[in-house]
Amino acid sequence: MEKNIVRTKQLKGIIDPPGDKSISHRALMFNAIANKKARITGLLESDDTQSTINCLKLLGVDIQRHSRGVYDVKGVGINGLKPPSENLDCGNSGTTMRLLIGLLSTINGQVRLIGDESLQSRPMDRVYNHLNQLGGKIFSENNNGCAPIIIQGSKIENNDPIKLKIASAQIKSAILLASLTSRSGLKLIEPIKSRDHSERLLSSMGVDIQVDEKKISIQDFPKNLESLDIAIPGDISAAAPWIVAALIHPNAEIQINNVGLNATRSGIIDIFLEMGGNISIMNKRVIGNEQVADLIVTSSELNGVSITKELIPRAIDEIPLVALAACFAKNKTIINGIDELKVKESNRLVNTIDILSKFGGNIISQNNKLIIRGVGKLNGCRLMCNDDHRMIMLAGIAACVSEGKSTLMNIDSVGVSYPNFWEDFDSLV
Ligand code: S3P
Repeated sequence: MEKNIVRTKQLKGIIDPPGDKSISHRALMFNAIANKKARITGLLESDDTQSTINCLKLLGVDIQRHSRGVYDVKGVGINGLKPPSENLDCGNSGTTMRLLIGLLSTINGQVRLIGDESLQSRPMDRVYNHLNQLGGKIFSENNNGCAPIIIQGSKIENNDPIKLKIASAQIKSAILLASLTSRSGLKLIEPIKSRDHSERLLSSMGVDIQVDEKKISIQDFPKNLESLDIAIPGDISAAAPWIVAALIHPNAEIQINNVGLNATRSGIIDIFLEMGGNISIMNKRVIGNEQVADLIVTSSELNGVSITKELIPRAIDEIPLVALAACFAKNKTIINGIDELKVKESNRLVNTIDILSKFGGNIISQNNKLIIRGVGKLNGCRLMCNDDHRMIMLAGIAACVSEGKSTLMNIDSVGVSYPNFWEDFDSLV
């Protein structure tokens, strides 16, 4: 699909973002190995979560769609997954593949995990190297650390504390799942605390999990995981495009409902409040062990800031959008510790610089930092997007605040995390 975009005089409306992608994957996987039937509501229906559903079905899990976003998952027990008779296709989804590596590391048989071109170039050894040190038998078929991945189920034993070098919730969650299915004690230390949805879910499902900032331990494993009926909050990563659009459009007011504001995810709110953004946080509430609120965001005069590397894991998927907002801020914005952007669905460091430069932004990277000088305005352009959903949404928001017309081509991959993105885009007037 191709889309022509011009800046509208005003940008107003109400958005209900889709369900949180991270929690959706976990709600499916964890309930798949629980003891009974669980009902999930507000599940993200997108290409990525469909990959998780397809894989779990091939592993013998009964998953029924009831209505939009409402699914029943019949747990097969902690060790009840069956080796599949075909490849497990994770599509574009890094979370699916990395969490499955942990979940299936102890399976009684062999599994082959495959993915699309993007996923086949993303590092999986960052997960399986840890597990292989604990007795895992997990290999990259092409010996390059990437998919296809072969898992030969084996016993995982975890005695010494595992010190992670990368702050990654995907690595952490894979290790948690491996410990759970092998019922072996766990001590894990993160370099910087990453999103904690797995810890919260497991705790709600009856696991005695101790979390002390960056240290996680589980001493006693339950025989069963208790199935958990769960309502999934809206995804702050899907709310982020609208937050940025409202902040930098000169005449905007956007209300975004039901946004998950888990403290390990809400870095973008802290960044924009520090930049002087007008964000009202209303109706704070807790749903299913997660903080949720409604947001009203209006046009703002932003100031450049310096963002520390410690904050990055709390806003990792939103950094490209922060860079866009920084183009409209006074002075310079520096974003430290951005290495991980290179290994997402595409090299988001290179692509963010490419896209924002095409719109007339002043942005460079230097020594693991992004440096953006505010230019006050951007100019529309013609852009062939790559298949990275978050890069397409970045281009869409840049186009809707730029002067003149933009034409964006190849914009369908938003379906990876936000199938209704362009409908919601067109609803703001
Ligand atoms: C995710 C964790 C993050 C994030 C990804 C989803 C998760 O990746 O970028 O979109 O659900 O655990 P890392 O854990 O590799 O940083």
